[in-house]
Amino acid sequence: MKGPALVLREVRKVYGTGEREVVALDDVDLTVDDDEMLVLIGPSGSGKTTLLTVAGGLLRPTSGSVVVGGNEISSLGDKALARFRRDEIGFVFQSVNLVPFLTARENLLVVRQLGGGRIDRDAKSRADNLLGELSLADRADNVPSQLSGGEKQRVAIGRALMNEPALVLVDEPTSALDSKLGHQVMELLHQEVKRRGVAAIVVTHDERVAEFGDRVVEIIDGALEVAQER
Ligand SMILES: Nc1ncnc2c1ncn2[C@@H]1O[C@H](COP(=O)(O)OP(=O)(O)O)[C@@H](O)[C@H]1O
Ligand SMILES: [Mg+2]
Repeated sequence: MKGPALVLREVRKVYGTGEREVVALDDVDLTVDDDEMLVLIGPSGSGKTTLLTVAGGLLRPTSGSVVVGGNEISSLGDKALARFRRDEIGFVFQSVNLVPFLTARENLLVVRQLGGGRIDRDAKSRADNLLGELSLADRADNVPSQLSGGEKQRVAIGRALMNEPALVLVDEPTSALDSKLGHQVMELLHQEVKRRGVAAIVVTHDERVAEFGDRVVEIIDGALEVAQER
């Protein structure tokens, strides 16, 4: 990847039309450096999830430009965009959505397979390393229904890192967890992201997550407020 991990320029996203129109992103300008962990904080409905899905190429903006690692992704066709997402982006969604009938280890390995890679010794050792670092070594053979909320969230983090993405996008990682578990999950996420030197955007409405950001930006009604340097 060349240049900043992410550059959004005058990004606008409007849902619906006419009286139903909702401006979810209102001319957003944002640059995330290639080793930066940005915390994006804002109330419910302020556009946080929309910003993440646009940045990750899951949703096309109404207008504006989205450049990830030097590539203008708005100009990619659907197939190229899907490949780009798979290879360059790690998503951790609010609803953890692990594959219910696969074990924790298999939930990591399946990502490698979807990316066209083989589940070889390399992939297995990468998955086991990640599980170990996330304190899940003894949970590797459990399916999601046998895992706690915090454990599932950690598997989701491992899965997001499995394909060595350049940019990790994390939506409300602590929302389903009590504050102690939420803190532990954030510590592990921070540690893994920094260890690998990847860029991350962590979206939250939880003030306590802010301490993990190299930078904290606030979003209100789809517009970014002046950044607070930390
Ligand atoms: N698919 C959609 N269709 C119509 N409106 C939507 C859709 N998704 C989100 N919105 C609206 O866009 C605004 C921003 O939503 P969202 O990005 O989910 O905010 P946040 O993640 O900060 O809670 C809200 O007003 C929400 O109701
Ligand atoms: Mg949201």
